Amino acid sequence: MQEWSGQLLPEITVRSSAKNFSTEPIEYEKIIALKEAVRLSPSSSNSQPWRVIFVSDTNVLPQVKSCLSDGNQVWNANVPLLVVFTANPEDDATKNGQPLYLFDCGLAARGLMVQAANMGLFVHPMGGWGETALQKALHLPEGVRVVCVIAVGYPQNFNKVGADADLVELPPRKRKASTNVTFDQYFGNN
Ligand SMILES: Cc1cc2nc3c(=O)[nH]c(=O)nc-3n(C[C@H](O)[C@H](O)[C@H](O)COP(=O)(O)O)c2cc1C
Repeated sequence: MQEWSGQLLPEITVRSSAKNFSTEPIEYEKIIALKEAVRLSPSSSNSQPWRVIFVSDTNVLPQVKSCLSDGNQVWNANVPLLVVFTANPEDDATKNGQPLYLFDCGLAARGLMVQAANMGLFVHPMGGWGETALQKALHLPEGVRVVCVIAVGYPQNFNKVGADADLVELPPRKRKASTNVTFDQYFGNN
C-alpha cells in the first residue's frame, strides 16, 4: 500500500470512546446542532427512519441510566446527555434481505458524533442496555426498536478556552491494519 502523509479531519482523529466525563451540562445551542446533524443525514429513499431522543433532564436521566448494563452505568454516572437512537423497522426498506434502518441510523449517529467532536464534546456509543426497560422508560410506541445509546458530554477538567487541546490526549487506538479491512479492486486484494 502507498504511504500517506496527509492529515485526517480532526473530527475523526480526536473522537474516542472515552469514559472520563464531567457533569458539566451541554449548552442548548450545541444540542440543537446535534439534532440538526441527525436530521440532515442521508437515508435509503430518504426514509429518515430515526427517532432520536435527547435525554438531559435530571428527572429523567437517572431512570434511563438505570437501563444501561452494569458496566456502562459505572462510567455514565457523570454523563449529562444520553442520545437514544430508535426506529420502527417498518419505516425503512429491506434490500437483499437486509433491513436498512440499522444502517441509516448508524449514518445519522456518525453525523452526530462528527458534529459533537467538532464542538469539543466526548461521544461514547453503547450497545450495552436493556431494550425492554428503555422502551418503557422512554415511552416508545409499539414496534419502535432501540438501536443505539450515545453518551455525550465534556471530558473531566474540560477547559473551555482550550477545548481542542484537551481532547488530544488519547489512548492508542486498537485497529486492524488497513490492508486487512480495505481492499483494491477485489476482495482481499491490496
Ligand atoms: C454499536 C457500538 C456499541 C458499543 N457498545 C459499547 C458499550 O456498551 N460499552 C462501552 O464501554 N463501549 C461500547 N462501544 C465503544 C467501543 O468499544 C469503541 O468504539 C471501540 O473500542 C473503539 O474505540 P474508540 O471508539 O475509542 O476508537 C460501542 C461502540 C459501538 C459502535
